[in-house]
Amino acid sequence: MSTSPALRTPLCDLLGCKYPIIQTAMGWVAGSSLVAATTNAGGFGFLAGATIAADEVEAEIIRVKELTGDQPFGLNFHMFQPNAHQLLDLAIEYKLRAVSYGRGPDKKVIGRLRDAGIVCMPTVGALKHAQKAIEMGANAITVQGGEGGGHTGSVPSTVLIPQVVDAVKVPVVAAGGFYDGRGLLAAMAYGAQGIAMGTRFLMTSDSGVPEVTLKRYLDARDAEKIQISYLVDGMPQRMIPNEYLSMLEKASPFKRLRIAVGLAMAWKAQTGMTFQHALNVLWKGLREDPGSAAQTVMAANAPMLLQRAMTDGLPAEGVMSSGQVAALINRLDSCETVIAGIMAQACERQAALNKFNLAVGT
Ligand SMILES: Cc1cc2nc3c(=O)[nH]c(=O)nc-3n(C[C@H](O)[C@H](O)[C@H](O)COP(=O)(O)O)c2cc1C
Repeated sequence: MSTSPALRTPLCDLLGCKYPIIQTAMGWVAGSSLVAATTNAGGFGFLAGATIAADEVEAEIIRVKELTGDQPFGLNFHMFQPNAHQLLDLAIEYKLRAVSYGRGPDKKVIGRLRDAGIVCMPTVGALKHAQKAIEMGANAITVQGGEGGGHTGSVPSTVLIPQVVDAVKVPVVAAGGFYDGRGLLAAMAYGAQGIAMGTRFLMTSDSGVPEVTLKRYLDARDAEKIQISYLVDGMPQRMIPNEYLSMLEKASPFKRLRIAVGLAMAWKAQTGMTFQHALNVLWKGLREDPGSAAQTVMAANAPMLLQRAMTDGLPAEGVMSSGQVAALINRLDSCETVIAGIMAQACERQAALNKFNLAVGT
């Protein structure tokens, strides 16, 4: 496919990909198969390192390399996960092109990654967090508007992108609510150098998400109903409503605490987290939000609920993180079809706009 040179931005050179399209990390979803499918289609994929078992991360990295003929890709991590430093070592050892993260890594950690030539590209949902992340050393930034899936802020993409583009000097990538070529062109008109998408890539034939769960995503036709809830882990998280969320809404604080403790213990066992590490996470959470013990405990184990929907095929018993954009997606195409379609539509829209300018000028 021939791409307009204007749609190839410096971000493509920074990340070593053909198109300015990023597949973001999604717990239990963005494994080696999805990352390889994105990469082979000309996009840039991030492995979701926070939910891959510690001993499997390296195998996943090697698998992406094998499936893509050693093309560049990235790794997502959270500083609170027990194997965070192991992931950082692997990113350096395997010369990954980029890492993505939320808040957490300090200047020393980021400096080490930057020294190894790794692009440090956090995702933020507010201007002040973008500025803080850049002060810490980030050399590109993904801004996620409130319409995005998973943990998300309250500022919509149309406000957040120009606000951050005007305030920072590093390349900005737009996330939250993107799924087609019109969105890519609009993001670039705002000054972003590309788009990053989660929900769009989850809803592909390459995501590996069980059919029964994907059906829930395809059935979500009303963007208004893909709402934010604080009940899962105390932080605003956008998801498709289901039986589990209704149960949480009705549950007493005591029941929520009981559920949270149960999930925390299961997560601790699954990740090999030590008691001391769990206590540190709990202590940190309590210091940040002493008002809700249940939510603090839950912060460490929300991934367990995502796993039920994304790998166990139990969408009614877990959490289905999703951007509002799921309501606009009604087919499960391959990553290749999705990316090629976005690029073709962006070029088409660009040409149409150019014609419109000529018509206005005459
Ligand atoms: C199912 C799901 C799981 C997610 N898990 C993670 C994660 O593990 N780490 C992370 O940084 N972001 C995570 N996110 C957020 C996405 O990486 C991305 O920022 C967001 O989906 C962008 O908005 P969009 O869905 O409108 O494209 C998740 C999102 C979804 C939908």
